[in-house]
Amino acid sequence: MSLPGLVILISGRGSNALAIAEAIDDGRLPARIHAVIADRPAAGLARMADRGIDTALVPRKSFSAQAPFERALTEVIESYAPGLVALAGFMRVLSADLVTHFSQRMVNIHPSLLPKYRGLDTHQRALAAADAEHGASVHWVTPELDAGPVIAQARVPVRPEDTRETLAERVLEQEHRLYPAALALLIRNPVLDLHDISKHREPPLLDLSLDAAGHLVEPAGGD
Ligand code: GRF
Repeated sequence: MSLPGLVILISGRGSNALAIAEAIDDGRLPARIHAVIADRPAAGLARMADRGIDTALVPRKSFSAQAPFERALTEVIESYAPGLVALAGFMRVLSADLVTHFSQRMVNIHPSLLPKYRGLDTHQRALAAADAEHGASVHWVTPELDAGPVIAQARVPVRPEDTRETLAERVLEQEHRLYPAALALLIRNPVLDLHDISKHREPPLLDLSLDAAGHLVEPAGGD
């Protein structure tokens, strides 16, 4: 049986891409990474190439405008015919055209408890608001930034002594658990119509939240 193929898009260190690769290697995620693609020279590309994974660079800087860049990016992604495209620290807002092209195939990880704090500086914003908890979300990508249906979330308590850096670090640790688990959920349950926003639950279907002691919080009883 051929495994569902992923293409991962990154812009930086690629620690989430690495977490996905590790989950595949240790059997938690029944998938295959066809390629990791970056929009700029990203440290994560070398880390993935070292694991024998195909990498590609489609530098935004080499294009005069966003539209030709996105055409080239789409072509490279489609050359791998992926079942899912996973954005993992891909620091570029994509046009509605591209997002629509990959509709129902593109997911993202965002470092906040969506719908809170779309966009940048999420850790700082959670601290400024004196939030008791913060976390990460995996969601479908739709044309509106960070606004697509949420598939999975992991909450972490904010500690009084937290700085942006310590909070970001603790959330990132959870991202590394959350992203592979959310992808596995989608791949193992292809019949779940998770794209249908009306079927979304609160809390999301997959909840990997931790309590203050770092233990997994039992989800509140659902139906
Ligand atoms: C992560 O915090 C992700 O949620 C955000 O950018 C960061 C990327 O980290 N969108 P990495 O490149 O996966 O290490």
